[in-house]
Parts: sequence; structure tokens; C-alpha cells
Amino acid sequence: MSIRHVLDISDLAVNELHDVLALAQLPVAQLGAPLQGHCAALIFEKPSNRTRHSMEVAVVQLGGHPVYTRGEEVGIDVRETSEDIAQVMAGYHAFIGARVFKHGVVQRMAAVSSVPIVNMLSDVAHPLQALADVLTMQQQHGNLQGKRISWVGDFNNVAGSLAQACVLLGAEFVVSTPPEYRPTESELSAINSLGKGSVRYEAVPGEAVKGAVAVHTDVWISMGEESVAAQKTAAFLGFKVTQHLMTKAHQDACFYHCLPAHRGVEVEASVIDGIQSRVVAQAHNRLHSARGLLAWIFQQQSAAVKESAQA
Ligand code: CP
Ligand code: NVA
Repeated sequence: MSIRHVLDISDLAVNELHDVLALAQLPVAQLGAPLQGHCAALIFEKPSNRTRHSMEVAVVQLGGHPVYTRGEEVGIDVRETSEDIAQVMAGYHAFIGARVFKHGVVQRMAAVSSVPIVNMLSDVAHPLQALADVLTMQQQHGNLQGKRISWVGDFNNVAGSLAQACVLLGAEFVVSTPPEYRPTESELSAINSLGKGSVRYEAVPGEAVKGAVAVHTDVWISMGEESVAAQKTAAFLGFKVTQHLMTKAHQDACFYHCLPAHRGVEVEASVIDGIQSRVVAQAHNRLHSARGLLAWIFQQQSAAVKESAQA
């Protein structure tokens, strides 16, 4: 049986990413109910608004029943190992979603799980966010091929997954961060190898956004990074998305942020609350893209079951 774990966007081929985005735009009634009679484990080691709600609603819309579990309740690698948790829960659930501090945890779960593991955010990746982001940009700007998409701020879990999605879809992704926080050349070349688009580093934010149809950012201090907050905040001061910076982007450029946001820190309030902002549409698309991904995962599974029955 084909089990499709989705730990990052790079787990999808370009045609598969297109298929997920197409499914995300179908009315719920056209998706059937692939989770009918099944439950889904959603484990959260960190707080969440969008991811928890969009995944719970998506599971219900696909006919299933979500079971929310706090990380400290299962005690990942404290009360029991990641491997024991995944193997046990795989006996109860159609898939396991996990929001974890360490990416290695979802990798270890995927190595032993007999049901799909979906990364709901780790220190390295946030594929569910990237799906919603590219869906929102496609709705706003059309085909992303050849379009410049800029990231100004911390090159983190959200940025890494978004860069992968943009390269798969043929876009030009430009990252502007303080040099000491920039992605390495080997990280950039690994993302560049995924598809026809490109990713590159640009030290000057005003250069990075030139001609961009989309300007993205995220918090400077991600969950779990609180101990380095002072040092990082000082380093990122010149990388705030301001109204002045937005004037250097394409005249139709929009502003994107995965939320939660800190107004006056990584973005000026007049930008995130202004007419160029698409952050609410992005957040709403978390539901549609999560549902599209889950529908796709279970389409793959049922196609594989049919194929093996015919063999
Ligand atoms: N963007 C996002 O993942 O939000 P939550 O942390 O609220 O789930
Ligand atoms: N980079 C942020 C994203 C939150 C959705 C974090 O990891 O905290």
C-alpha cells in the first residue's frame, strides 16, 4: 500500500502539487467522504489557531472525526517514544498530524507509521501553510510561473516550505534576511533542484521586493526560539515590511503573512491592515488547502489499494 507522508512540500512532485491545489478548490460535496468511519489524530506540541481549526474542520468535511491531543499529554519522547506513539496511533487513525518542536520527530514517526504522517509545523517546515499561501497567490496573481515572490524576514519553517512550493510552480523566490540568518548556498541549491523556478538570496530588502507581486514575512521569533529573542530582534531591525518597502514592489503587489503577526515588529500595522494585505484570505485558504491535501492523500491510498487488488 502506498503511504504518502507529507513532512514538507518536497514530498510532492510538481504534478502532485497541482493536483492538491486543484482539489483544494473543489466544493466539499465533490470530494466524496474519504474519511467516513475513520478518525484522525492531531497532536500539538505548540499552540495553534489556524492549523488546529482548519485541520479539524477539514477532517469533518471529509467525513472523519478528529482527535485533538496536546503534546504534553502524550509526552513525545518523554512519556513514550515518537516511534511507539506513531505505531500505536496508526492502529486507531487514518492519519496522524503532528506539530512538533523537532523535525526529526515527524521523520521518525514516518519511518515506522503504517498511516500517513502530516507535518502540521516543525522547526524546519510548514507545508500546510505553504499550500494555502500558493493557493492564495494563484487566486490573486494567476499562474505563478516567472513571477517574483519575495520573502523579507526570518528564513524559517514557513519560508522554507514556501520557497519549495514556489520553485515547484516555476516562480522566482527571493529571500532577504540579515546575512547571519541567510539560507546557505547548499540549502538554496537543494530547493532550486526541485523544479523550474528559482530561489536566491538578496541582502537588501528593497532590491528583493523590486517587481515582486507578493511580499511575504513571518514573525522574527518562532515558537521555541524565545531564548534568542533579543539577539534576533536586533539583527532583523532593517528587515521590517514597511509601507515604504511595499512601494518598491510591483504596483499590484500584495502582502502575505501566515499569522500570528506582531504589528510594528516584522510588519507595519498600516501594511498588514491595509489594502494590499491578503492575510485573512490566506488564513481562510488554510481550510481549503488542508482539505485538498487530505483528499489527495486518500485518493493515492485508494488508487494503490485498487492496483494491488488487481495485481
Ligand atoms: N499559521 C499558522 O500555522 O497558525 P497557527 O500557529 O495558529 O496554527
Ligand atoms: N514561524 C512561526 C510560524 C507560526 C505559524 C513559528 O514557527 O512559530
